[in-house]
Amino acid sequence: MPAQSDSRPLRSAAWFEATGKLGFYHRSHTKSEGFPSDLFTGRPVIGIAASWSELAPCNVHLHDLAQSVKAGIWEAGGFPFEFPTLALGETLMRPTAMLYRNLAAMEIEELIRSNPLDGVVFLTGCDKTTPAAVMAAASADVPSIVVTGGPMMNGRFRGVAVGSGTDLWRFSEDVRAGAMTAEDFVASEVCVSRSNGHCTTMGTASTMACLVEALGLALPGSAAVPAVDAARKVYAHLAGRRCVEMVREDLRPSRILTRGSFENAVRVNVAIGGSTNAVVHLLAMAARACVPLELDDFDRLGRDVPTLVNLKPTGQFLMEEFAAAGGLPAVMSEISDLLDLDALSVTGRTVGEEIAGAPCYDRSVIASRDSPLLAPGRGTVVLHGNLCPDGAVLKLSAASESLLSHTGKAWVFDSIEELNAAMDADDSQIEAQDVLVLRNAGPVGYPGMPEVGNLPLPRRLLREGIRDMVRISDARMSGTSFGTVVLHVTPEAATGGPLALVKTGDRITLDVASRTLNVELTDDELAERTKSWSAPVVDGDGGYAYLYRSHVLQADRGADFDFLVGRRPVGVPRPPT
Ligand code: FES
Repeated sequence: MPAQSDSRPLRSAAWFEATGKLGFYHRSHTKSEGFPSDLFTGRPVIGIAASWSELAPCNVHLHDLAQSVKAGIWEAGGFPFEFPTLALGETLMRPTAMLYRNLAAMEIEELIRSNPLDGVVFLTGCDKTTPAAVMAAASADVPSIVVTGGPMMNGRFRGVAVGSGTDLWRFSEDVRAGAMTAEDFVASEVCVSRSNGHCTTMGTASTMACLVEALGLALPGSAAVPAVDAARKVYAHLAGRRCVEMVREDLRPSRILTRGSFENAVRVNVAIGGSTNAVVHLLAMAARACVPLELDDFDRLGRDVPTLVNLKPTGQFLMEEFAAAGGLPAVMSEISDLLDLDALSVTGRTVGEEIAGAPCYDRSVIASRDSPLLAPGRGTVVLHGNLCPDGAVLKLSAASESLLSHTGKAWVFDSIEELNAAMDADDSQIEAQDVLVLRNAGPVGYPGMPEVGNLPLPRRLLREGIRDMVRISDARMSGTSFGTVVLHVTPEAATGGPLALVKTGDRITLDVASRTLNVELTDDELAERTKSWSAPVVDGDGGYAYLYRSHVLQADRGADFDFLVGRRPVGVPRPPT
């Protein structure tokens, strides 16, 4: 194969610099797009994996952003090809976009493998699109940069800041409690979502944007910049330029995604008050990169990290203010003594070099280390006990202090529909000190592990002013949500985990200090109940849902497919002749 200036052959040369009928076939059809002959020799071919769709409003601007990436690629001597990838829109997809994260990751990996790509710039935004891209990049192991689409402009409703998701959950409970009219509820819709971009709060999309930057896979400083800010296009342009250089340097994800970079991401998630969904996604991404990372690492690594970023749902501000305050480099600089500063960034420099002296412009948004928003250890904690032998998680910064050591009577629901009906019953017997349990909402059970874990409270209690209760499920919850909510109970009920055996009236104890979650049943009593348990009937007897249910791993292993774990460097596949 023809050689690069540094003697490394380009992967794309196997297609575009081939001789004979195969080279003719590859070049001739590609030239029909209007490319001159000289582009097909010696130029790194860079794919722009754009997860945009009009069905995914948070990502709809990514085709425009791709033009900036292309400009950077051309400028650096590369040859850009934009290609669409599965756009997972959190708001419209049913039963949950999470059902399709692994499908998107598999699609992207195989598009890279099967095409003449030397490097890839990934354009992502809405929650699942970012981890899907990183999972694909880690497995395919071609030089990769992630450019997230940025958050929407800040929202305001009648003079008050309103954030994506967080204020929707608040308003909907206010309507149920009779504290907000249905007309005002609808009037607030357009005020929350004012422009292109992903959620404005530190929900899952913002969290994953920050964590991809913390991992070193995105340009430093890019995560928080609003979607409509000209700086977002500048970062996209620079990413295109840089990806060409990364191909020439052979800087692959396998050199960037290390144990140190994942520890950085886990710690940064505490500092930013990030989403519990990050736990599932980071576990899946690490497993793709062959980096050992376990659920308990999130608790252990997070104990000495303070929460610094004052954004909803934990705090008060939104992403636009976070960007103006200095964004993620300011946060990482503040906790630099807790980070692996030798971890590598897509820039080719170390994390330590990138964040050194990063300024903070507003301490009300990004608190200082010695005066944090929350004391160390208020991130996501990991629980164990006879109700969750393989673990469960709880976001401390979103929970009520008064409920962190709590025993109550369980009310158990087998489906979200059953639970919703019970919560709206005016004669509900459920009391504030009771514990709500939802099961069959895990990876296998729903299927897809939807974001229903922030269970609604009984309407009768809402009207009495109750705003939080202990809630437990094998589901996930939106990163924009809040409450004393135990999530990701593993093993899940649909596979016969102990959650399947709990009955209404059992007593459950949550004790965050000892990191335990137990139901007051002996091992013998649980074993006896197991005898009469049978697996619930789950949707998806055929098609993709069947594939998903047959191969999805439990939440403590990232809910990836068992056959997709690990790295499969793309190499050069055999031609069809
Ligand atoms: Fe797409 Fe929140 S719904 S980022």
